[in-house]
Amino acid sequence: MPVSAKKKLCVNVPKHEGERVRKELKELGLLDERYSIEERRDRLYIPFKGESNEVRYDLEPCALKPRLQPLRKRLGIRYDVIGDIAVIDWFDGILAAARELLQTRRDVKVVLAAVSGVGGEYRLKDLVFVAGERRTETVHKEYGSRLQVDVASVYFSPRLATERHRIAELVQSSETVVDMFAGVGPFTILLAKKVKKGIAFEKNPDAFRCLKNNIELNRLHNVEACFGNAKDLAPKFRGVADRVIMNLPHSAFDFLCDAVTMLSGSGGFVHYYDVKPENEFHRTIEIVKEAVGRFDRTVDGIRLKKVRSYAPRQYHIVLDIKISPR
Ligand SMILES: C[S@@+](CC[C@H](N)C(=O)[O-])C[C@H]1O[C@@H](n2cnc3c(N)ncnc32)[C@H](O)[C@@H]1O
Repeated sequence: MPVSAKKKLCVNVPKHEGERVRKELKELGLLDERYSIEERRDRLYIPFKGESNEVRYDLEPCALKPRLQPLRKRLGIRYDVIGDIAVIDWFDGILAAARELLQTRRDVKVVLAAVSGVGGEYRLKDLVFVAGERRTETVHKEYGSRLQVDVASVYFSPRLATERHRIAELVQSSETVVDMFAGVGPFTILLAKKVKKGIAFEKNPDAFRCLKNNIELNRLHNVEACFGNAKDLAPKFRGVADRVIMNLPHSAFDFLCDAVTMLSGSGGFVHYYDVKPENEFHRTIEIVKEAVGRFDRTVDGIRLKKVRSYAPRQYHIVLDIKISPR
């Protein structure tokens, strides 16, 4: 989208002083944030909001581009940035938006469009190329972890970063944690940095390849990554876990018994994720409690938390379940 430049009074500073002067102008209420800062050779032109006879600064008129309101606000679109790849839900006019995104966000090098919702056993979206470099693999940084992600063939949502961080704040260093549906390992990697041992299950071969690479990339030596179906893998880890992560909304219930039997004899925590409308929250808690009760264990405490809104009136939720021996 072409953006016309307009002559504006600017503070002319050498590049190396730019950040200090920008901050100072902002504090003094003299920074005109409606315009972008212009860079020319080794000088910066910072849009000025004060009087033209101000003597503290070297003032000069310069053609500046108006700053664009972020795309999110202007077009009402939502997009995720995973590493340097932006994924936007498809809409008419996406090409212009993608080009603008590439121009305005230096951290974005690829724009892809999602043409379906999340689906299938590997929880994937169908993606098509829109603009930028033609690739689907990137490295995403999250709370100090580096995660290799191939957005076309694995599930990954940066929107869960805060939730992953919340769980990382709960763990103790002595714990063994099982991540039953690990994907590329965002929970596993973050938690393994803090706990004694991480065990990760994943059945999508592409996600498993990224998971293995991410364990190396983050120099972790305390993670056992297991390829396959969590149903088949869980019996090999009976009674070993202090905490189990179950991020498989819509299907986690089918694996609840496997999670419970992996907990150690003294019990532990299960973090159970699902997608539900608000009027089913209470019933979900009751069903989970009853299911755990069938395994000679008791639910000592259960807390439901909305992780994020998922669709109209649907929430991605988590149940933090404290389970003890009966
Ligand atoms: C919703 S994603 C969550 C991935 C990751 N934990 C995260 O938070 O980004 C669920 C993952 O579980 C994997 N998966 C689905 N069913 C599985 C099963 N029965 N056994 C092991 N992995 C499974 C999918 O391939 C997918 O990578």
